[in-house]
Amino acid sequence: MRRGSIIPLVVCAALANGQYTVYQPLNQQIIFGGVGTPTAAGPAATYTGAAAYDPTVLNPPPPPNPPIPTQFPIQLYTGGMWNLSKPQSGAFFGFSIEMSVATQILGKNSSLINVPFLNLLANIKERAGWVQVRVGGNTQENAELVPAGVLPNNSILAKDYSSTFTATGSHPLAYTTDLLYMMANISDFTNTHWYLGVPFFNTTPFSLEIVEQAQAIIGDRMLGFQAGNEPDLYAVPPRTNRPVGYAPADYAGEIGLLVQQTNSDDLITQRQNLFLVPSISPNSWTPEQVWDTGIVESYNSSIYGLSVERYPYTNCNAVYKSGTPVDIQATFPSYLNHGAATGLIQGYINSSNFAMANNKPMIMFETNTASCSGFPGISDSFGAALWSLDWAFTMAYNNFSLALFHTGGQNSYYNPFTPPPTNQSTYRQWTIGPVYYAALVMAEALGPSNASQVVDLNMNSGNTFTPGYAIYENGSPTKLVLFNFVTDNSTASDYTASISIGGGQTGQPGASPSQVKVKYLRAESVSQKGNFTWAGQTLGQHFESDGRLTGDVDVQTVTCDGNNVCAVTVPAPSVALVFLTDDSYSAVTPSDTLTFPTSVQTRTVNTIYIDPSAIKTSNGHWGMEDHVGATSFGHVNAASLRRSMPGAVLLIALAAGAFVAGRALMTR
Ligand SMILES: *[C@@H]1O[C@H](CO)[C@@H](O)[C@H](O)[C@H]1NC(C)=O
Ligand SMILES: *[C@@H]1O[C@H](CO)[C@@H](O)[C@H](O)[C@H]1NC(C)=O
Ligand SMILES: *[C@@H]1O[C@H](CO)[C@@H](O)[C@H](O)[C@H]1NC(C)=O
Ligand SMILES: *[C@@H]1O[C@H](CO)[C@@H](O)[C@H](O)[C@H]1NC(C)=O
Ligand SMILES: *[C@@H]1O[C@H](CO)[C@@H](O)[C@H](O)[C@H]1NC(C)=O
Ligand SMILES: *[C@@H]1O[C@H](CO)[C@@H](O)[C@H](O)[C@H]1NC(C)=O
Ligand SMILES: *[C@@H]1O[C@H](CO)[C@@H](O)[C@H](O)[C@H]1NC(C)=O
Ligand SMILES: *[C@@H]1O[C@H](CO)[C@@H](O)[C@H](O)[C@H]1NC(C)=O
Ligand SMILES: *[C@@H]1O[C@H](CO)[C@@H](O)[C@H](O)[C@H]1NC(C)=O
Ligand SMILES: *[C@@H]1O[C@H](CO)[C@@H](O)[C@H](O)[C@H]1NC(C)=O
Ligand SMILES: *[C@@H]1O[C@H](CO)[C@@H](O)[C@H](O)[C@H]1NC(C)=O
Repeated sequence: MRRGSIIPLVVCAALANGQYTVYQPLNQQIIFGGVGTPTAAGPAATYTGAAAYDPTVLNPPPPPNPPIPTQFPIQLYTGGMWNLSKPQSGAFFGFSIEMSVATQILGKNSSLINVPFLNLLANIKERAGWVQVRVGGNTQENAELVPAGVLPNNSILAKDYSSTFTATGSHPLAYTTDLLYMMANISDFTNTHWYLGVPFFNTTPFSLEIVEQAQAIIGDRMLGFQAGNEPDLYAVPPRTNRPVGYAPADYAGEIGLLVQQTNSDDLITQRQNLFLVPSISPNSWTPEQVWDTGIVESYNSSIYGLSVERYPYTNCNAVYKSGTPVDIQATFPSYLNHGAATGLIQGYINSSNFAMANNKPMIMFETNTASCSGFPGISDSFGAALWSLDWAFTMAYNNFSLALFHTGGQNSYYNPFTPPPTNQSTYRQWTIGPVYYAALVMAEALGPSNASQVVDLNMNSGNTFTPGYAIYENGSPTKLVLFNFVTDNSTASDYTASISIGGGQTGQPGASPSQVKVKYLRAESVSQKGNFTWAGQTLGQHFESDGRLTGDVDVQTVTCDGNNVCAVTVPAPSVALVFLTDDSYSAVTPSDTLTFPTSVQTRTVNTIYIDPSAIKTSNGHWGMEDHVGATSFGHVNAASLRRSMPGAVLLIALAAGAFVAGRALMTR
């Protein structure tokens, strides 16, 4: 089990000093007063609870000047349009879950799955047919498989404080195969397909147990394994996983060793299309530098897909006192327009073309509003729903195949979903973030056909506050997705798009429907936290959701006029999903929701342990990796635990409140 040797800790000792308090488990006392009041602007200066419930509400930017044009046409054509993307899957928008918080999010073990998590995945499955989830992140890099029963309190995932692997002294994650059984069980309920990662800490040899076991246990719902998480930062101080000078060619060489070892591992049954490379951050290498090593040509048959990771901003200064401080209120507007997404995609367009030329999916393996857990007031606002949805559509239009939005647990602002603190799991529910709503809308917009082609309409003369996309399936336009990034309660910034298919100047016969259906993603303001609605339904405020949408479904019907024009109004702020055909509507509108009610709950008595590395993982930022370990090495609590458990393998459980899941609870 024990791989590698203990590497001297000197390197990071200086960095560790002064970082200490940052990594303490967060105070779990949640301040409830005023949480999420959408109108009360201004930072909650006194808030000391977990990031996931931070009440900070920012001021929305004023309506733009000049104002957005509020009347404009959208002309669609039958038979296709220019610049349609490749056909996309409805599972395009997926989730990335930091490995160290897997038992908080997925469940305690394979027979105690978190029911709200099942419901959240089931919602996507009902619309798209399936769901894609990655379990991994920096904490996968030295994770070790241990036999069942070794971890304390029957846990299946823990931090191994008896062992120190990394250069900076962080403790590895230990897990049992039950984590994989839990994933397999979740797949049975929700048709979830998974990504995991090969630990890249030690290459001689690689530890391939996760591939062997996951293939055996999860089967063909196990899609691919990440080969290295942000390898471009492996040699960037304070990380010293690799020697200074570690370059794309060195990484490609390691992939060669990995492929060789995989090919001679008899326990690996599926060796083709296995690995995701290179999952680099934007900080150190360009994707082209990696492609130019010949990595794809050399190892083509072993490569599942080409992956990158990207966060547009970083909150590392607030979390780690590193880097430049960010004025969050001043930064908010930069998320609230289409330029945010088109700017971010620029560095990847060439790579996406390269991936297509090599018949490999281009994958955004980890993204969200900002690294180092996001920004209070931005990452958890309605604005983040608009931003993440527009970003996902921009990636789809540019022929990415998948985008995974990261979840970091209680310490993060940007979570799509957050379970309650463990000791509150009997009386509180989950908190659903804006990014989850974006996932829901994307699943409906792309639907289950695998034929949805996306085009950025550049509509309203390319006004950056009003992007829009058309979806074509098999040559016919089936849906439109219309954004309004402006906050304005006066209705002066609501716009009306006059949609026609064929007819007019197109030279095609008019083909507009007699009516269209419209679902809205809505909130009062881009600043609002919680209580967002999708087609009238909501997942509530903090601690209110069991993962099921509540409230009455509200779908508008718009009658098109005699000139084949369908006038759809898009309030400020909102997103409108316009269904141009009845089939496109019924395919993604569940009439009979399969859900998993939380009628049976267990109260787990474990003390909550928030894994501090969940913050720093995620990142694409400058290597805060291992600071946590460095600080916890010699940490007084760890030391006292050591004393209190003489001779025992010292492992601290990553406890999670869990609900009993079982087939018996499935109801229709
Ligand atoms: C939950 O645990 C935290 C941290 O141990 C503690 O401060 C808090 O009082 C507990 N809350 C309840 C309701 O038990
Ligand atoms: C959220 O919505 C519910 C139901 O409409 C309402 O009762 C509640 O006041 C709202 N909460 C906030 C903070 O807006
Ligand atoms: C297609 O995309 C290219 C590149 O972005 C752009 O220059 C061109 O205007 C687009 N064509 C149309 C008809 O929108
Ligand atoms: C995406 O791929 C399609 C081919 O399926 C191609 O026509 C289109 O130009 C590509 N889009 C971009 C932005 O490169
Ligand atoms: C899951 O945890 C519960 C509670 O600790 C335990 O009773 C059950 O046996 C565990 N299931 C498995 C498969 O380990
Ligand atoms: C695009 O990628 C290819 C393959 O790596 C590379 O040869 C080429 O220089 C890149 N072009 C740009 C503009 O970066
Ligand atoms: C590379 O692999 C893909 C499948 O992942 C395959 O379609 C393609 O033909 C392969 N390319 C070469 C040059 O073998
Ligand atoms: C779409 O693709 C998924 C994943 O490959 C597959 O499971 C599903 O059957 C496909 N659906 C259709 C309608 O082809
Ligand atoms: C509308 O917004 C303005 C400015 O943000 C605010 O002062 C006013 O109270 C709001 N009105 C309503 C009805 O919410
Ligand atoms: C195991 O559970 C017990 C009882 O809940 C708790 O007191 C103890 O701290 C736990 N041990 C570890 C290592 O988490
Ligand atoms: C989960 O997996 C375990 C181990 O494979 C199996 O025994 C159990 O029946 C499964 N539980 C559910 C609820 O499917």
